[in-house]
Amino acid sequence: MSVTVRVPAKVNVQLAVGGARPDGFHDLANVFLAVGLYDEVTVSAAPSLTVTCSGPDAAQVPLDRTNLAARAAELLAARHGLSPDVHIHIDKDIPVAGGMAGGSADGAGALLACDALWGLGSSRAELLSICAELGSDVPFSLVGGAALGTGRGERLTELAVGGDFHWVFAVADGGLSTPAVYGEFDRLNASVAVPAPTASPALLEALRTGEATALAGALANDLQPAALSLRPSLSATLAAGMSAGALAGIVSGSGPTTAFLAKDADGAASIAESLTASGTCRAARPTSSPARGATVL
Ligand code: C5P
Repeated sequence: MSVTVRVPAKVNVQLAVGGARPDGFHDLANVFLAVGLYDEVTVSAAPSLTVTCSGPDAAQVPLDRTNLAARAAELLAARHGLSPDVHIHIDKDIPVAGGMAGGSADGAGALLACDALWGLGSSRAELLSICAELGSDVPFSLVGGAALGTGRGERLTELAVGGDFHWVFAVADGGLSTPAVYGEFDRLNASVAVPAPTASPALLEALRTGEATALAGALANDLQPAALSLRPSLSATLAAGMSAGALAGIVSGSGPTTAFLAKDADGAASIAESLTASGTCRAARPTSSPARGATVL
């Protein structure tokens, strides 16, 4: 018997970052939006815990116990006095180390899949607490839709979204390390008093009404200067997306994927075509949001 869970990627439509905390994390006002790029995580009983991965970027995915999917199986098993004897297969479509929470998606997916395979029937609250232990973005991968994350991003308030938004994601060559981007944020802000992060009322209103032009005007990512500092070539990708007619362009999370908001699905298809032709990215993926959180297929 096996269980397969489909989990979406995310874009941060607002990522407001506060100063570094004593524990090394940063307080955030993090507005997550799940988008229609998915990983599928399949678990089946096996003699011991093993991980395999397929998909174009599979070679970059760690298959040892550092993989969040493996850690999710271990944590859930430990809480129930079980041995995590499962084979986990990840069919990966979310860019790796791209700022779209692909690793977090696999953690949330494996958690939900193991819970079903082992017949544990964990409550949503139990699953969310394990997600928060796995990483700051993992709870959102479970929940999907749209949500405001506070604390280090793990404390979620779900948000209403009034319509579909159309996006193009420009996938860069190679990834960026999230701790390195936060480190660069600290370096760039070393001589300023970083204000406490707050969610933008205009942005929350744009999500609620579903108006793409309003959302375009409110997109904001405090990690963008740090990502551009570490990867200056992303400026050319952002410029190419804007000249292709995007309403707005932004670095997705810690990058290096860039996200472009389009007027509609046709606009997204045409921006994707121009971005591909521009040679400023490895691939351009049109998709829409919001997307459902982790779902057993
Ligand atoms: O929580 P997660 O393991 O995904 O975080 C990865 C790294 O990103 C942390 O070790 C930290 O360097 C940085 N981070 C941060 N503040 C957050 C979330 C992540 O500094 N709110």
